[in-house]
Order: sequence, then C-alpha cells, then structure tokens
Amino acid sequence: MLAGDFRLALDAAEFAIACGIVPDDWQGDALRSLDRKLLLNCSRQSGKSTIAACIALHQAIYAAPSLCLLVSPSQRQSVELFRKVEELYRRLPSGPEIATESVLKVEYRNGSRIVALPGNEATIRGYSGAAIVVVDEASRVPDDLAAAVRPMLATTNGRLIALSTPYGRRGWFYEAWAHGDGWQRVRVTAEDCPRISADFLKDEEAELGQWQFRQEYLCEFVDTAEQLFASAVIEAALSSEVKPLWD
Ligand SMILES: Nc1ncnc2c1ncn2[C@@H]1O[C@H](COP(=O)(O)OP(=O)(O)OP(=O)(O)O)[C@@H](O)[C@H]1O
Ligand SMILES: [Mg+2]
Repeated sequence: MLAGDFRLALDAAEFAIACGIVPDDWQGDALRSLDRKLLLNCSRQSGKSTIAACIALHQAIYAAPSLCLLVSPSQRQSVELFRKVEELYRRLPSGPEIATESVLKVEYRNGSRIVALPGNEATIRGYSGAAIVVVDEASRVPDDLAAAVRPMLATTNGRLIALSTPYGRRGWFYEAWAHGDGWQRVRVTAEDCPRISADFLKDEEAELGQWQFRQEYLCEFVDTAEQLFASAVIEAALSSEVKPLWD
C-alpha cells in the first residue's frame, strides 16, 4: 500500500475527498464513525446517499474481503445507490481491479463485493456475512424487509446504516429513532445543508404545505395528512397511565 493509500484507508473522510466529495461536517463525522448502528435522519438532497455509498466503497476497498449490501424499498432505488458507488469508484485515482461487474453488483479482485438488492423480503434471504448493510429510504422500507436484513450481520458483527427522511410516526425507522437501543442518531435539516438555499426552501414550503415540508426538509416525524387521529392522541389512549373515561 502506498503512503497516500494509508491515509485514505485510515480516514474515510480523506477517501471521500479523493473521490471528489468535500464532506460537510456531519458527513465527515458519519464517514469517520465506527458505530455499528447508525441512523441518518437527513433532509432531501443533503447528501446522505452519497455518503453511505462512500462508506460502503471505503469498506470494500480497505477491509477486504467485505460483503456490502445496498437495500431500499425497490430495486430501482438500490440500483440508484449502487450507481453512486460506481461513480465514486471511477473518480478514484487508483482502486482495486474489478473482477466482475453488472448493473446490480460488483466484485473486486480483493474479494469484496457490493450488491444492490431488490426491496423484497423473500428475494434477499440467503445473503449472509455482510460487513455493512446500507438501507436507503429506510422509512419506506417495510418492517419485514428490515427484519430480514438483521441476520445478515449476525456472524460478522457488521454495521447497519439506515438513511432516510421521516415518513410519519410508524414503522421500524421511526421506532429505532424514537425508542431503539444502541443507535447513533444524526439529524441534518435542509437549513444545515450549505447547498440548499433559503429561497429554495421558501418556495418548497409554499408548494408542499407544512406537513410535507416539515417531513422532507426539517426531518420531523409528523403524522400523515390522511391520518384521522394524531399519533400522540392514539398513544395516550393506549397508554396504561391514562384513566378510563368511565369505570
Ligand atoms: N459534500 C458534498 N459536496 C458537494 N456535493 C455534494 C456533497 N454531498 C452531496 N453532494 C451532491 O448533492 C446531491 C444530492 O446528494 P444525494 O443524492 O447523496 O442526497 P440525498 O440526501 O440522498 O438526496 P435524496 O433525499 O433526494 O435521496 C448530489 O448531486 C451529490 O453529488
Ligand atoms: Mg438519496
């Protein structure tokens, strides 16, 4: 390994720079983090997929042989994330040789693989021994798919990185964010992103309405517009602390 390579191996933020991405502060922290369970609750277009792609590629190159799995609600979205990995790889001045490559996966000569999986619980069973599983658009990933992902990390003590905007107060991503144990939580609103202007956000707020704007850009777990009762009311109603209205 060359001296420069050691720097990139030890510091994934330096690696991102070598791929042409100068990380924002939170991106640098996420790249350097060693957390096994990481939740990135980040605004639209803040750069969460790019950084997850970078983390997966760094793992594949410098911790070979590693299996890195990309999961999302649909194959189309997983392939989108996989394309980001390929784009970063192409920008590297030097990287491992590719042994085989398709639209869904790449295997490097160092033995590492990066695989884009379909958003379907039955199809993804069978993969095991993953070093990293990246779950993109995680709030839209059904609970059964998320549950199928966990055993893939069992034998490797691997990392689970889930990135998303919120999607109401329901589902595994919300539960992990609100109540889960052992997760490192990162929240990045659009106001924290230097590439999103205040003018753009003003327009979006007017176009989208409050509920969607707060969800997509302010990363708030707000109840869906169509939900008749607010989650807080339902939770209170189900809580044993609440006295019945009549005995
Ligand atoms: N640190 C950075 N510097 C410059 N450009 C960046 C940086 N991070 C991300 N980008 C660019 O910002 C755009 C959005 O990035 P990305 O697709 O990763 O965001 P996202 O949060 O996943 O968005 P979405 O919510 O739409 O899925 C891309 O064009 C990406 O190349
Ligand atoms: Mg994305």
